[in-house]
Amino acid sequence: MNRPVMEGLRLNVPAHVRHARLIAWVAEVAALTEAADVYWCDGSQAEYDRLCQQLVDAGTFKKLNPELRPNSYLAITDPSDVARVEDRTFICSARQEDAGPTNNWMPPAEMRALLQTGDNALFRGAMRGRTMYVVPFSMGPIGSPIAHIGVELSDSPYVAVNMRLMTRMGKAVLDVLGDDGEFVPCVHTIGAPLEPGQKDVAWPCNKTKYIVHYPETREIWSYGSGYGGNALLGKKCFALRIASTMGREEGWLAEHMLILGVTDPQGRKKHVAAAFPSACGKTNFAMLIPPEGFEGWKVTTIGDDIAWIKPDAQGQLRAINPEAGYFGVAPGTNRLTNPNCMDSLKRDVIFTNVALTDDGDVWWEGMTDTPPAHCIDWQGKDWTPQIARETGAKAAHPNARFTVAATNNPVLDPEWDNPAGVVIDAFIFGGRRSTTVPLVSEARNWVEGVYMAATMGSETTAAAFGQQGVVRRDPFAMLPFAGYNMSDYFQHWLNLGDKLQATGAKLPNIYCVNWFRKGADGKFVWPGYGENMRVLKWILERVDGTAQGEAHVFGVSPRYEDLNWTGLDFSREQFASVIGIDRAAWQQEMALHGELFDQLAYHLPTALVQTKQRIEQQLAA
Ligand code: GTP
Ligand code: SPV
Ligand code: MN
Repeated sequence: MNRPVMEGLRLNVPAHVRHARLIAWVAEVAALTEAADVYWCDGSQAEYDRLCQQLVDAGTFKKLNPELRPNSYLAITDPSDVARVEDRTFICSARQEDAGPTNNWMPPAEMRALLQTGDNALFRGAMRGRTMYVVPFSMGPIGSPIAHIGVELSDSPYVAVNMRLMTRMGKAVLDVLGDDGEFVPCVHTIGAPLEPGQKDVAWPCNKTKYIVHYPETREIWSYGSGYGGNALLGKKCFALRIASTMGREEGWLAEHMLILGVTDPQGRKKHVAAAFPSACGKTNFAMLIPPEGFEGWKVTTIGDDIAWIKPDAQGQLRAINPEAGYFGVAPGTNRLTNPNCMDSLKRDVIFTNVALTDDGDVWWEGMTDTPPAHCIDWQGKDWTPQIARETGAKAAHPNARFTVAATNNPVLDPEWDNPAGVVIDAFIFGGRRSTTVPLVSEARNWVEGVYMAATMGSETTAAAFGQQGVVRRDPFAMLPFAGYNMSDYFQHWLNLGDKLQATGAKLPNIYCVNWFRKGADGKFVWPGYGENMRVLKWILERVDGTAQGEAHVFGVSPRYEDLNWTGLDFSREQFASVIGIDRAAWQQEMALHGELFDQLAYHLPTALVQTKQRIEQQLAA
């Protein structure tokens, strides 16, 4: 059915918008989706406040008690729309090989017919009865040579206000775009048109979902979900999936990595980028407070989720955080595990799917030792500790999140907004593994490091739909986020290493960590969080060449005496149980590497195959 654009639809183009291609595209999408109105976001505080009030009036937001949580809101989603949908995420490159075996793929023309051009195309009329928000945003400091601009068209005011916290958003971006600047077009609809007289629901969305990327034309089309990475298109869709393909073409990296600064007691500063899969500790590591025994050390945050990394003229790798806010996991966050995060959340926050306390504040599992006697859970039901014991009901959804501007972070690094980025001294890769993988090991060279990262496994979490807690390979923590063939992505890392080595520059060291080994009692053996500083210090001293370690089949790990234990009661036996390498377990693990390599056989770099053979021979010896 081909519905004409609503009579009299005004595009409401502000006078300062001079970009003909942008205006034409906005008109085209408004016509396709039959949006009832078009609103261009300016990114101001007044606009933010107004949209939040509108969300309160619509029942999507609840304003929290301003005395306890000033300028903050709670959003509750539809129970079916609570996480990323990996099986509904597509990389529609012209050739299937370019999407590779780890991505869902459909021919671009077929996908376009389904979404845009066919008679029953999903976007046709999808915004009927709703306002289409034009959200201009910059990933990276506005105007920086490393930054890239996107424009998201969305019928979700929740998306508009979250984008204001998560990105540099608004008029300043349009000014940089000028009359002909490049931008990545991002189209998003919740897929819930409103017919005249139809009453809206608090969280409109659609059971059918498509999160679609066209890497060749650098476009994103997202249908049916209003949640997180499905809908805030600057984040995973642009800054990882599209940006990784841009980086491949242009010689840089877009990675699922936090970036932190560490300053030692002598005032020397280093920078580390670390890739852990979703809900495996990036935000926590990026805000770490050094424990007792580390007086004079300080960790500062540059980014908590995504890094764009480019070689500079000296052959050093420089990283920026393309984001301007955090969309972080609430459950498990508390004053002991992450005080800097709790301080960031004191005000100006959008919480999603946490519980509402009787005094109008928020609560989630793990926030306090003693739960509130009563609260309203994320599904709007009464929740008490007794109900939880009897039914297992969670007050907060396990993937409940907070959205907050980076500027709320008390340990925000002064360089976080520097357009030139920071020089990376070490890369860390880490999964969530209750067995097998040691607390920390250092790769002896770039290829061994790429092998470690490529074969990394991790237990699945609530950040994505699907079974939880099953080990899957998650190369570079990028399995859901690589915008092109995973083997080509490995090759890109190897090529970059070769290129930098040829300049004579010192490459960052590469490490593999695992905070999550469990004991026979099923509990984590390693205390984690701030105590991870003990491992971080060893890593930095290895970079300096001052720390000792012991070589093994995968690289080098510290002995008990190589770590500083001041202030922590952690025995040699406990250490052995988190650092030890069990030969039988590793033989099984190598079989899993083998399955991954079988899957990725097309274009798999031979250097990685050879590394695997060498490790297997050493394990067998
Ligand atoms: P995404 O935002 O999904 O990419 O997640 P993330 O990698 O930033 O993970 P985050 O830091 O939010 O941590 C996720 C969960 O892991 C939280 O419940 C944390 O409390 C828990 N966690 C983080 N660091 C540690 C650690 O060192 N040890 C243990 N045991 N748990 C941790
Ligand atoms: C992740 O899942 O890795 C996240 C959350 O950072 S989301 O933005 O929903 O992708
Ligand atoms: Mn993430």
